[in-house]
Amino acid sequence: MKKLVPILVAVAFSSSFAILFAIRFGSHTPSEAEDYAHLPKSESPPALFNSPDFSFRDQHAAPVTRASLTGQPYIANFIFTTCRTICPLLTSKMVRLQRDLPGLPMRFVSFSVDPEHDTAEALAKYADEWNPDEKRWLLLETTPKGLEAAAVGFHVTAQRTDGGLDAVMHSAVFMLVDQHGVVRGVYSSEEPGEFKALVRDARTLTGAGAALPPVAKARSGEVLFHEMSCANCHERPELAPPLGGLLGQRRTLETSLIVTADDAYLKEAIVAPAAKRVAGYPLMMPSLAGHLTSDELDSLVKYIVALPPPTSNPDVLVEIDPVCHMKVRVTENALSVHLDGGPPAYFCSEWCKARFTENPDAYRR
Ligand code: HEC
Repeated sequence: MKKLVPILVAVAFSSSFAILFAIRFGSHTPSEAEDYAHLPKSESPPALFNSPDFSFRDQHAAPVTRASLTGQPYIANFIFTTCRTICPLLTSKMVRLQRDLPGLPMRFVSFSVDPEHDTAEALAKYADEWNPDEKRWLLLETTPKGLEAAAVGFHVTAQRTDGGLDAVMHSAVFMLVDQHGVVRGVYSSEEPGEFKALVRDARTLTGAGAALPPVAKARSGEVLFHEMSCANCHERPELAPPLGGLLGQRRTLETSLIVTADDAYLKEAIVAPAAKRVAGYPLMMPSLAGHLTSDELDSLVKYIVALPPPTSNPDVLVEIDPVCHMKVRVTENALSVHLDGGPPAYFCSEWCKARFTENPDAYRR
């Protein structure tokens, strides 16, 4: 089902939002053999609305407009580079789309929703970190006015929250736009079924024929770890837990349950991450069910098990953000405020920190 109602994501995530997300992810029953074949035979997706006019610059400072994009279909999404909550998840999916649609004549367009910080240079660096070889990916530096108009025209939300600082509220959808600039589909980024429908519809629009993408050659654990963006999140301790030396360690889950990381735990973490979420991360692990064969899953787990343990202790303290009540890991980079006469307070985002700083008494227990 395609939804026109945008799914809002606040970077200053509330705990209830995180729970909602977890429930939606949890409703998916993963299967290793999932593929595109069970989807109904593809027909051309219906025209929904005309994309708006816009005029921005891409990460190489080249102008990009509605007109310059006509001639080829594209998949669009909305992100900003300093976001630590939903955007890494969206970008990992954007990269997966690029890999699932290899060599096809189409583009991938990420509109920045943070005109203040996302310069062409910052966007070029971001693209380089996530998928340096993808020439079809344009990341657009926007202007406040241009972004506002584009958001209205695409029927999405992209606005700064009143907290300012890093906090931008934006839609977490992917859009499929055809070669004439007409929007042909709006897909939730959270629903695995919609992700597959998007791949199928995109192939149809390029004339590549419906369903099955070419079967990839078996890939080694190391190749998969980098191709599937694992390193982009897991090499940044503020985003995701370091994976080296994990086997046999005790993990504290969101539910406060403590489990030991064995082989089965690692596999489940990859194909059904919602089942056991590690405590203290504002972001969640994207499910890779249906994107790996069982041999690939085995080699990925073997690769992770052999990774060296991180030099700093990953089993850090977990504190509660006094504003949104999310769990926060007390790492070197954790956001904190230390007021006289009390222990430091830790925050999941700049937004919560700013709320607290304005009026600490309102949040003190
Ligand atoms: C978008 C960021 C992101 C990407 C990409 C990502 N992960 Fe994760 N992963 C997370 C986060 C955040 C957690 C902790 C929260 C949770 O469990 O959902 C996590 C948890 C895990 C865990 C459990 C770790 C523990 O400490 O118990 C494993 C194992 C894991 N990921 C493996 C992988 C592998 C393998 C890949 C690539 C195929 C991958 N992840 C890609 C963000 C990511």
